[in-house]
This record gives sequence, structure tokens and C-alpha cells, in this order.
Amino acid sequence: MATLLPFECRWGIMATGWIASEFAKDLLAPPSTRNVSDITHRLVAAASSSSLARASDFLSLLPCHAARAYGSYAALVSDPEVDVIYIATPHSHHFANAMLALKAGKNVLCEKPFTVNAPQLEILMKEAKKRGLFLMEAVWTRCFPVSIEIRRLLKEGEIGVVKRTEARLDFCHEPLGEKYPGGEHRMVNPKLAGGALLDLGVYALTWVFQTLYHDLPEEEKERSEPKTMGVMQMYPETGVDADNVVVLQFPHATGVASSSIFVSGDNAPSARFLGTEGEIQVIGPAYRPEGYCVIRPGKEEKIVPCQIPGKGMFWEADEVARCIRDGKLESEIVPLNESLVIMRVMDTVRRQNRLRYPEEIETTVYDEEREDVLEILSGSAE
Ligand SMILES: NC(=O)c1ccc[n+]([C@@H]2O[C@H](COP(=O)([O-])OP(=O)(O)OC[C@H]3O[C@@H](n4cnc5c(N)ncnc54)[C@H](OP(=O)(O)O)[C@@H]3O)[C@@H](O)[C@H]2O)c1
Repeated sequence: MATLLPFECRWGIMATGWIASEFAKDLLAPPSTRNVSDITHRLVAAASSSSLARASDFLSLLPCHAARAYGSYAALVSDPEVDVIYIATPHSHHFANAMLALKAGKNVLCEKPFTVNAPQLEILMKEAKKRGLFLMEAVWTRCFPVSIEIRRLLKEGEIGVVKRTEARLDFCHEPLGEKYPGGEHRMVNPKLAGGALLDLGVYALTWVFQTLYHDLPEEEKERSEPKTMGVMQMYPETGVDADNVVVLQFPHATGVASSSIFVSGDNAPSARFLGTEGEIQVIGPAYRPEGYCVIRPGKEEKIVPCQIPGKGMFWEADEVARCIRDGKLESEIVPLNESLVIMRVMDTVRRQNRLRYPEEIETTVYDEEREDVLEILSGSAE
């Protein structure tokens, strides 16, 4: 019997910053190191908006000698060999960059948060659907085997009925002024849609939605969209949020998602799922779960560590490859409608706290000239 060859997914990487390089390293790790044999990945090309040299330097550090370097994103999306574009620009740019890729007929994996606001995401979803293209938010956490295992345990009633999820991501490792001098860094820069909610809060929210929403029957989802109440503390220098707490009232349970660049993460679990018969806690940071702990009254605590052979971004890349191979337009692990509901929650919290970004990045108008506007707005791209 003939052995089936693995499906090869051919990637183009848009931008050459920190996460682009982390993703590329994981993408090129041999699939066998995570016991995967049905798909493989090839990095076909990478593009920098600032210079061709930057794209070449980016590729020179990776084991992909035949990959092509481009000095513009437009050139990258025109490469006929690329199946899917991974967008790793600041989130202020995701809407315009994803539109560029979709209009060029490319499938898209877009870094989190998907866009600046929900109406932008709705436009991307319509564009992808119209063109029959795959689209997914790169919430890599959801594709970890440990996240899938936790969802299975909760669904099967390991801790009874889940009544509350609490999740947090706090990220203050150094004195703030030193880390973000002049307020230019994308974490605090309003022109790059900075702020804790969009950058970090999306992970806390993803745990709430994974555990209180994801497994609801489809017909129940619409009426189960949560009521949202959020508070924020602002970063004085730039006015974006530096700390936030969001309370989500679902018909059947409550979610509490918080994130901060003011406070440093302590040893408390990054997520807790509280049920009628016990709780499950996530071990490790909210974005990169390293295991879980099951606590039930009268029973011994069960700690389950999970091996991650690398950073762990390859699992989302594998999910994308399988969806494209199977002709799916979206992932069941990171469904588009769920990304949209989470974007709406973040819109609501920003509205409640009067946090609005410059019109140029909140806009839902896309045209090719928008790329130039964004460059002017955010200054030089490093
Ligand atoms: N999944 C995760 O764990 C994770 C972690 C960190 C960040 N992220 C997300 O990934 C995105 C990028 O974050 P990052 O930390 O990689 O940022 P970064 O290091 O600042 O890189 C962003 C890159 O985007 C490109 N870019 C295009 N226009 C730009 C502009 N006007 N200003 C700045 N950069 C511009 C630049 O590459 P070129 O010059 O080559 O075009 C730049 O190197 C963000 O949306 C963030 O939320 C995800």
C-alpha cells in the first residue's frame, strides 16, 4: 500500500519583529519532535516593510536557505508559491495587512488581537468568506494539547459544572519608565493600539471563552454572549490602559479576566476554573500553559505537567496546515465568531472607559493608500 506523503504548507511571513522570529523558529522545527507526521511546513518567503536587507537578515538566521526576501508586504502577497500569510505586525496594522493578503487571494493567520475593533474583523471575515479563504487569529494558546485536554476534562464534568472562570495575565518585569521610554513602545503607544487589554487581556479572555462559551451548542451561542463590565487604570504618559479587570456575566456562569503592565505576575495560577465539585488551575503563563492541577475536596491534588518541545507556536501552525489541507475556511479550535465576540467585549470595555485610538487605526475604510497613512502615523518601523 502506498504511503501518503505529508501535506506541505507553504508560508509567507509578514514583518520581521520579535514574534515573527519566534514563530519562524517553531515553524521550522521538525514535526517529528512533536510526533506529527501528516503535515510539514515550508517557509517560502518573508517581507519587511522597512527594507529588503531587514528581510534578508531575518531569513539568514533561520534554517531556510531557499526562502525569498521581500522589501514590501505587497510583494510578499504576490508570491504565487505562498499558501498562507502569517501577519506579525503591530495590531494597529492587522486590518490593513490582512485585507492586503486576502485581496491578493492568500489565506491568513493573523497575530492577536485580530484587529483594533470588532467592525474591522467583521470586514475581514466577509472578505475571506467571499473569496473562499482560510482566516484565523493566532491565539496559539488554544492549540496547545494541554488546553485541549483541559477543555475535555471540563466538558466531561471532572469538577462538576463550571460556574466561574478567573484568568489573568500580568506583565511587569521592570520599572515601567525604563521598559517603555518615551511611550513609543507598541505596548503603550496609542498609535499602535497599545494597552494591556488588547495586548494581554485577550489571553485572559480566551480562557474565559474557551471554558464558558466554546463548547456551548451552536444554537445557544448567540443568546449566551455575555454582559460585560470593565474597569481600567491608565498609563499616565500615553493614556492607554495599563491595568484592567473585566467581569463577564454569562447566563450560566461568570468570567473574570484581568491584565496589567502595572503589576508583576505572582505565583497565583494564571487561570482557575471553579466548578460545583472542585477546580482546575492552569500552571504557567496564561499564553503558554505548562500543565494543570485538579483540586477536589477530600481528594489528593493532581498535578499534570505538560512537555512543550520548543516555544509551542508550531501547534497553531499545524492547525492552520490541516485546515488548509482539508479545505476548511476556519478552525474549530479558534473559530472566527468567537474571536469576533471577544473583540466586541474589548470594544465594550474600551467604550466604558473612554479609550479610543486615533481614527486612522479605528477606521473600517481600507484602501491601498492606508498603508502610507499608517507608516506616517507610527513613525519609522524600527
Ligand atoms: N503570540 C504571541 O505570543 C505574541 C507575543 C508578542 C506579540 N504578539 C503580537 O504580535 C504583533 C507584533 O508584536 P512584536 O512583539 O513582534 O512587535 P515588534 O517586535 O515591534 O515587531 C513588529 C514588526 O512589525 C513591522 N511593522 C510594520 N509597520 C510597523 C510600524 N509602523 N511600527 C512598528 N512595526 C511595524 C516591523 O517589521 P518590518 O519592519 O520587517 O515590516 C516590526 O518589526 C502584535 O500584534 C502583538 O500583539 C504576539
